[in-house]
Amino acid sequence: QVRRLLSARAAAVTSAAEALVAARAVVATALVRDRSVLAAQRTRPPALAGLWELPGGRVEEGESDADAVVRECREELGTEVVVDGRLATDLRIDAGVLRVHTAHLADGGPEPRALEHSGLRWVTAAEVPGVDWVPADRAVVADLVDLLRP
Ligand code: CDP
Repeated sequence: QVRRLLSARAAAVTSAAEALVAARAVVATALVRDRSVLAAQRTRPPALAGLWELPGGRVEEGESDADAVVRECREELGTEVVVDGRLATDLRIDAGVLRVHTAHLADGGPEPRALEHSGLRWVTAAEVPGVDWVPADRAVVADLVDLLRP
């Protein structure tokens, strides 16, 4: 009886922990330079491979959104970015909500490189609507066009 209670308890704790991990925030970066935004081509999972995204990923324990944006841009692009603000529209993803932050390259920092993507491209306001974005990122096409317009 005690053992059954304990294992029920353990299962409840495990599923609460899984729910927390699943609900953890994800951030993406609208990295802007010269009125263009950086799009990065995904390599995984197979359903998203070849599609373009705003670089980003999961916010880790104890990190702010801005910390996560800076870390993800280091890991994925080898570059230093400065966070400026945030887009109004959040993206819906399976794991919950993804917040898009705006950023620029730190002065004199390294050029972005595709360390975890199959390609990078700078996209102008005119080009944004025609990019093959991952499904979630399509929701911010209008915000990106506004951001890049003079
Ligand atoms: O790098 P990490 O594994 O933390 O994150 P990720 O796999 O790049 O992104 C976490 C989730 O957010 C995945 O389901 C991505 O498909 C999604 N995502 C997205 O929809 N749009 C983005 N711009 C970035 C991530």
